[in-house]
Amino acid sequence: MSASTTWLVTGAAGFIGSNFVRLALSERWCSRVVALDALTYAGNLENLAQWTGEPDRFAFVRGDVADPNTVDRVFAGHKPSAVIHFAAESHVDRSIEDPAPFIHTNVTGTQVLLGAARAAPGSPRMLHVSTDEVYGSLALDSTERFHEDRPYDPRSPYAASKAAADFLVRAAFHTHGQDVIITNCSNNYGPYQFPEKLIPLAIMNLLRGERVPVYGDGLNVRDWIHVEDHCRAVRACLEHGRSGETYCIGAENEQANIAVVRALAELTGRGESAIRYVRDRPGHDRRYAIDPAKARHELGWEPCIPWKEGLADTVRWYRENTSWLENVRTGEFLNFYDRLYGAQ
Ligand code: NAD
Ligand code: TYD
Repeated sequence: MSASTTWLVTGAAGFIGSNFVRLALSERWCSRVVALDALTYAGNLENLAQWTGEPDRFAFVRGDVADPNTVDRVFAGHKPSAVIHFAAESHVDRSIEDPAPFIHTNVTGTQVLLGAARAAPGSPRMLHVSTDEVYGSLALDSTERFHEDRPYDPRSPYAASKAAADFLVRAAFHTHGQDVIITNCSNNYGPYQFPEKLIPLAIMNLLRGERVPVYGDGLNVRDWIHVEDHCRAVRACLEHGRSGETYCIGAENEQANIAVVRALAELTGRGESAIRYVRDRPGHDRRYAIDPAKARHELGWEPCIPWKEGLADTVRWYRENTSWLENVRTGEFLNFYDRLYGAQ
């Protein structure tokens, strides 16, 4: 990228968005980031605290991606040269409880952002960060993997909302020739993940001497990728991907949930007694697996962080950042916006 690039990053205060901003600014992938985030329960401004004092390189806008006035104001005020769209409701269990916010943010938010990017001068490229869950569920005993041409078969309200958003992005390309890219990535792990998802929840419980709830028989398989490997793939797609294309991102690292929890129990010095089997998630997808050949061959992207090393580093990060975890657990993190920007 050239020296004067402003990237609009939605959902930048969340898990993957904040890791992306940290890499983009510290490794100078762009010259400036404009972060747009509603700061829902999952948005944590502490994740971006190191940048809030650098107005030349970083601006934070608290706002809803589904609100056209807010989004138009951000485009007019900051004139981004690219849009990286992470903002979403992202937790399957919450989508089972109440799908409404998922439709609002994931579907309407994506539609609003697409329209604003298309209408902006130069119609900047928009990369939509999506999930492998749109492809449905694979059998445990098959060697099949998800790839870009596989038909969609979303099975949770979360996956259905992401699939709807993906179709809107594809439609913008076919109807308007809009410059868009979709990435469908597998499960991420790493620092700054909200402890409602399996890995940070397990680490938090293990460090606090509590037990980890494992859904059903614990044999469901997820294909884990370190968040930094995912962020580097997003950058590669943004800079070198072909317009209108979809790229499946994964690190070819399938793990049964029970194996992940056992590994975490070992890393935290806890034993089998720290594991508690609980009632299964309704409609629990059995197995996800990504074939990342297209991203590898077309973009030269490769995941770099080996699972064992990445998992041990992740446990170390949560151990060393107990105040971050405590601020999230107690809800204290919700005060960061007022502390940094003043109550409004
Ligand atoms: P997250 O839940 O940690 O963060 C989501 C962020 O979006 C939060 O900061 C939240 O405040 C913000 N947000 C929510 N609603 C908003 C709205 N209406 N307007 C503006 N901001 C809003 O999610 P994550 O795990 O970082 O996931 C980021 C993206 O990556 C999502 O689109 C998700 O579908 C996708 N994805 C996640 C994973 C994963 O394993 N976490 C895997 C593949 C794809
Ligand atoms: P999760 O982190 O919620 O991601 P996703 O459902 O989007 O894949 O869950 C990962 C796997 O772990 C999934 O199979 C559900 C399971 N799980 C548990 O067994 N216990 C838990 O407490 C959680 C949150 C998830």
